[in-house]
Amino acid sequence: VSERSAVQPGADVLVASNRGPVSYTVEEGGALTAKRGGGGLVSGLSAIGPDTDAVWVCAALGEGDREAVRRTGGLLDVAETGGQRVRMLDIPAEVHAAAYNGIANSVLWFVHHMLYQTPLEPVFDTEFRAQWASYEAYNTAFAEALAAAAAPGAAVLVQDYHLALVPGMLRESRPDLRIAHFSHTPWAPAEYFAMLPDDIQQKLVMGLLGADQANFLTQRWARAFMGCCQQALGNDCEALWPRDEEPYLRTFPPGLTARRTSIGVYGLGADAEFLRERAFRPDVEERLAALREQIGGPDRKTIVRVDRTELSKNIVRGLLAYRRLLADRPQWRERVVHLAFAYPSRQDLAVYREYTAQVGRLAEEINAAYGTAGWQPVVLHVKDDFARSLAAYRLADVALVNPIRDGMNLVAKEVPVVSERGCALVLSREAGAYQELGEDALGVNPYDVTATAQALHEALSMDDAERSARTERLAAAATALPPARWFLDQLRALKA
Ligand code: G6P
Repeated sequence: VSERSAVQPGADVLVASNRGPVSYTVEEGGALTAKRGGGGLVSGLSAIGPDTDAVWVCAALGEGDREAVRRTGGLLDVAETGGQRVRMLDIPAEVHAAAYNGIANSVLWFVHHMLYQTPLEPVFDTEFRAQWASYEAYNTAFAEALAAAAAPGAAVLVQDYHLALVPGMLRESRPDLRIAHFSHTPWAPAEYFAMLPDDIQQKLVMGLLGADQANFLTQRWARAFMGCCQQALGNDCEALWPRDEEPYLRTFPPGLTARRTSIGVYGLGADAEFLRERAFRPDVEERLAALREQIGGPDRKTIVRVDRTELSKNIVRGLLAYRRLLADRPQWRERVVHLAFAYPSRQDLAVYREYTAQVGRLAEEINAAYGTAGWQPVVLHVKDDFARSLAAYRLADVALVNPIRDGMNLVAKEVPVVSERGCALVLSREAGAYQELGEDALGVNPYDVTATAQALHEALSMDDAERSARTERLAAAATALPPARWFLDQLRALKA
């Protein structure tokens, strides 16, 4: 890490997200190594290029990041971030933990994905209130950093549920800015959102309504948000649907001037150009050979899934459906292998650790029940390895994407682009991607294990011509709005 990176005061474009485009590790001997993050937002922002003065504000997430902040004052070297100017915020660890683990991932994520087991949870009491205070402090730290770094009239693009209060805070401190917020998750239906305490519902929607534009991945989530605003604000909020324009909400916050927030839909797509190049590099070829060995036999078909081990991804029911397939349709035994890549996520939370363990146990049970000397029915990989994921995409005959609820799901969009033989997509109707890919995917109710097993059977049985034709159409729909355009379209709309 060098101190060379000049984050000039007065950037014209700023992005803010909890997780930034780069993370640091302290090596033995004290050197810091930087790892560039993947994902749509990182590739989307790279569209702006290193020549602009755009700044990405993010949180320091581990010891390596904190050390990088100590050594640089938080202004990271553009060489290490892939050309982006990054300001990393060292928010006190306990404040960050309460905001990120306590509120963002245990409350807001659960509400938007409808993950609560409601007879026992949630419980909103003093612990929740203490965590909420941290969430406010953490949002304040972002709002202050953005206000300090933004040029007059700058465009600020705030990302996701971690930072729901930032637009409202910025609107107050810097009314000159153009502010957008993007939700990468689903948005809860009003009846479910109503579980949150009244004042919290109001703070969350008013936070987002501080933005000039509140943007979502699909119409469905945008409408749900509008419903929640009307529920939480009553007569202080009016929804308007002009014929040739985006819908907007007009709010009348007590003591403040009326605000107008446009509601936009930008369906983030896969980056075809990047994927097609990346998927044929030597490291992917190497993984491909290793996977072929694990599959054992060129005639075996593959069912591929790649997820963070995330409660909303429904990995357990996916494995149950595969077990049902093997139980009810013995013709597939020895003839199919399920490549299940489930990369541990949010392991600070006990419920995620337990879920991760359950996935491992179930895969073992299936292998013990059905495996033979020459055939392992489930090949479970848990070490995050993007090159191996791409190798699996290339091999996929069937992709299984069955989330309980998902903002979009990029795996559903990436596999058709990379798969070599054409692949049938079994896709949950509750994934945002279903809105765009539903016609050529095999849609499933994610709770219905019997129907999912049936869809796997149909996908495995689909004839080659139909499968290729569908894959072609899926790939076209999946890449309609690549990350760079997704980002630039929002920026253009915000500046207009
Ligand atoms: C979802 C969220 C992102 C988040 C990602 C990984 O896609 O929308 O904001 O970064 O999950 O989760 P993590 O908690 O590891 O950042």
